[in-house]
Amino acid sequence: MSFSNLIHWSKKHYSNLPWRKNRSPYHTLVSEIMLQQTTVGTVLNHFERFIHQFPDLQTLAKASEHDILVAWKGLGYYRRAKNLRFAAQDLFTKFGDHIPQQREELISIKGIGDYTSSAILSLAYQKRELAVDANLERVISRLYGIQIPKGPKLIKEIRRQFESKEILKELTAKNAREMNEALMDLGRVYCQARKANCLNCPLSDQCVAYREE
Ligand code: ADE
Repeated sequence: MSFSNLIHWSKKHYSNLPWRKNRSPYHTLVSEIMLQQTTVGTVLNHFERFIHQFPDLQTLAKASEHDILVAWKGLGYYRRAKNLRFAAQDLFTKFGDHIPQQREELISIKGIGDYTSSAILSLAYQKRELAVDANLERVISRLYGIQIPKGPKLIKEIRRQFESKEILKELTAKNAREMNEALMDLGRVYCQARKANCLNCPLSDQCVAYREE
């Protein structure tokens, strides 16, 4: 089994998620901010309606905080809605309708941090980047046996090993979107924090945690 099996599994079951069907940098920005701290199921109930109401960056940048907060209802963590609005305004002022493809430019935007930059670069622009959220943090530290407790140090070490190609050499500019999505799916579905379903996992035969269990 292998990464291509992982991608195959992910596409077969999850390519219909609405933010995957019509990937654009703007859709990616909105969905990634929604998916931070919120489950896929909850975001499913809101994403398309939100995009219908705010179809592009300019519309979102010009919208009132009140309208955005009302549309955010049910997603919780309202600070994210405010940050998304700041990000849209800042992006629109600095770059117009085009969301930049450079990390330094993305990270300079108010409301966009490391995670969201990596997500936009890998998912929307197919750059060799890794969007290390809580799921990827867990999946990758298990897969490669990285023995650091979860948190900023672990994330930093994962990034370092990824950039120096000690790990995930299989992730390239050609498959960056699919690989990131597939690893996210794996963490959400089979490789959960308290319950790892290794028997069904397409990567178990190369997983250090599974081997050493
Ligand atoms: N697909 C794209 N981004 C995702 C995320 N953050 N969580 C789950 N599925 C996703």
